[in-house]
Amino acid sequence: MNYEDYLKTSPEDRLKYYQRDDRMYHVMRTQQFDVTLLEELFEIANQIKLMTRKPNGIDFLKSLLRHKKSMLYFTQPSTRTFLSFLGACQLVGMDTAEVRDPSLSSEYKGESQEDAIRVFSSYFDMIVMRDPKPGFCEYMAYYLDHSARSVPFINGGSGKDQHPTQALLDLYTMYRSFQDQGGVSGRRYAFVGDLLRGRAVRSVIFLLSQFDDVEMVFVAPDAFQIAPDLVQALEQSRVKIQKSDNLKEVLPDVDCVYMTRIQDEYDMSNESGQINYDLFSLFPEDLKLMKADSIILHPLPRRSEIHPEVDLDPRAMYWRQLRNGLYIRAALMLYIFNQSHRLQEY
Ligand code: NCD
Repeated sequence: MNYEDYLKTSPEDRLKYYQRDDRMYHVMRTQQFDVTLLEELFEIANQIKLMTRKPNGIDFLKSLLRHKKSMLYFTQPSTRTFLSFLGACQLVGMDTAEVRDPSLSSEYKGESQEDAIRVFSSYFDMIVMRDPKPGFCEYMAYYLDHSARSVPFINGGSGKDQHPTQALLDLYTMYRSFQDQGGVSGRRYAFVGDLLRGRAVRSVIFLLSQFDDVEMVFVAPDAFQIAPDLVQALEQSRVKIQKSDNLKEVLPDVDCVYMTRIQDEYDMSNESGQINYDLFSLFPEDLKLMKADSIILHPLPRRSEIHPEVDLDPRAMYWRQLRNGLYIRAALMLYIFNQSHRLQEY
């Protein structure tokens, strides 16, 4: 099948092309993960987290993927996702190399990105990719699958489209935070900010929608409300949805507040400048409106949408959320290379 025909198949039909021998091989979209797989990954991440507390645990983890090498191809700005993948590779012993600026590689000499990726696949066993073009990572995975050597691809953020590993660490944080209070099901989640252009929210809602009796409140300025295609998809999964532009009104009734920054890098003509983002920001005085056992998340980086004093509140989970990214990404790598069973040997 050529790529044009491939793109004509529905996104659901395409999920099978990310699998090998009934196992996830490429990580492209959150729709690939079901609750069973999520719980398996969370269990692996829990074990990794415990093992990193002991020197012999760290040594053991490093032995698991010592025979594998990973290329981190990040041509869209990134600090934490890049470092988190780097740190995760180091945790499980993978060697890494990176391209962050194509102008320093042979692409500058006129080499196509297709050829560049083909070179990487000859040297490496996995490619983690962040590129500003939506769908580009999937195209590259397709391209290599039809070449002599294919390697697993992990989407590290594809434009406004998706960011599946961010969604994994978000859900892993919700899962851990609520595990002693009956789990993530049956709860009310607020997503706040630029919901139209932020890929983190686009991604995590698909994971969350698979759990029972989940309610979502989308708090955003009209111009940046959640896209209609997502609302439709959520309604099909029978998620109860509400839209609002009043954060203070929403805060008392939710178990989780997921804050996001304005994504003004996607502005065509200063649309962000028209918005009073203070209305979609958390200040110390808002904390008293919130439930005592609720949590605050943010994919980071933040600007002013969470006042730094909020960090001192025990409900602020975003720094923990960031650390969880290391464990869940390391877990994903052990899973993809089918090595997680070896954790039992420790
Ligand atoms: C997010 C992203 O890049 O989509 N950040 C991240 O990966 N940690 C969120 C954002 O940039 O606002």
